[in-house]
Amino acid sequence: MHGVDVTPRVWDRILSVRSGQACACCGRFTAAERAALELYGPVARRDLGPVTVAQIGQSLDGRVATASGDARDVSGPDGLAHLHRLRALVDGVVIGVRTALHDHPRLTVRLCSGPNPARIVIDPCGRLPDEATVLAAGGARRIVVQGVDRPRPLGVEILHLPLRDRRMDPAQILTGLRDMGLGSLLIEGGGLTIGGFLEAGLLDRLQVSVAPLIIGAGPQGLTSRAPVQHLSDALRPETRFFGLGSDIVFDCALGPQASRAMLPVHKRDGLGPITAVS
Ligand SMILES: NC(=O)c1ccc[n+]([C@@H]2O[C@H](COP(=O)([O-])OP(=O)(O)OC[C@H]3O[C@@H](n4cnc5c(N)ncnc54)[C@H](OP(=O)(O)O)[C@@H]3O)[C@@H](O)[C@H]2O)c1
Repeated sequence: MHGVDVTPRVWDRILSVRSGQACACCGRFTAAERAALELYGPVARRDLGPVTVAQIGQSLDGRVATASGDARDVSGPDGLAHLHRLRALVDGVVIGVRTALHDHPRLTVRLCSGPNPARIVIDPCGRLPDEATVLAAGGARRIVVQGVDRPRPLGVEILHLPLRDRRMDPAQILTGLRDMGLGSLLIEGGGLTIGGFLEAGLLDRLQVSVAPLIIGAGPQGLTSRAPVQHLSDALRPETRFFGLGSDIVFDCALGPQASRAMLPVHKRDGLGPITAVS
């Protein structure tokens, strides 16, 4: 069994795929490097159009933070590096305002090489303070998606959208961001924000990274506003899983575009739709 090994040479290749200068399928790589190409290639590719991918890091019991709000390092070190790699492969990272207020994330790429994405916060009612970490200047674009008239600091762009029952249509958010020149997007959380895009059928991929710890209580990973009543109605996406070292990633293809973007997966032991890569 081989885990994912993101060596410098395979990461260079993946960044070249992102910039359209190389393909993700050719070359001499080890099985573990090839697993890295299979995991990151579908997000890096630009030839099939922009990709919308969501990633959530959670514990064995499905929590993304403690009940008191401590969300630091739910993911292990390899899960964190994975998140930074995803950031480096997209044009923009989207979070909900609750994550911005709880975690004070920078949303920069620090654990691998690659460009910093635009930082986007969905803040319908203007709760995010001007001095929020995520709005700090630092080279990357900063965008607030809001439904109220609220000025923002110089350099922070506003995507103004209509509110209905305090909600904005995720499809309008996506279209608005694309109209602002952003292509591939990472929806980084929290669960409410990811759930909105998932239920609207707007995600091409969903990645759930599971770390081996049990928290016992606290916010759930994915949260649906309209959960199914019967297991027969549950969403069962085509899923591959990858061993990163400290964490396991479930990589789910949700749209037709995502299935096409999947690179050839090593066929092993006649496994079905879930294929063990590590
Ligand atoms: N482990 C991880 O991977 C990870 C990642 C991110 C966050 N987290 C944790 O997750 C928790 C926060 O997540 P959460 O699910 O509670 O909240 P969240 O998704 O961060 O933010 C939700 C809020 O964003 C706004 N929002 C999002 N989509 C919207 C839409 N379509 N229309 C209107 N408003 C929208 C709303 O703001 P209003 O409330 O103003 O209406 C909504 O309540 C924190 O504990 C954080 O530490 C963990």
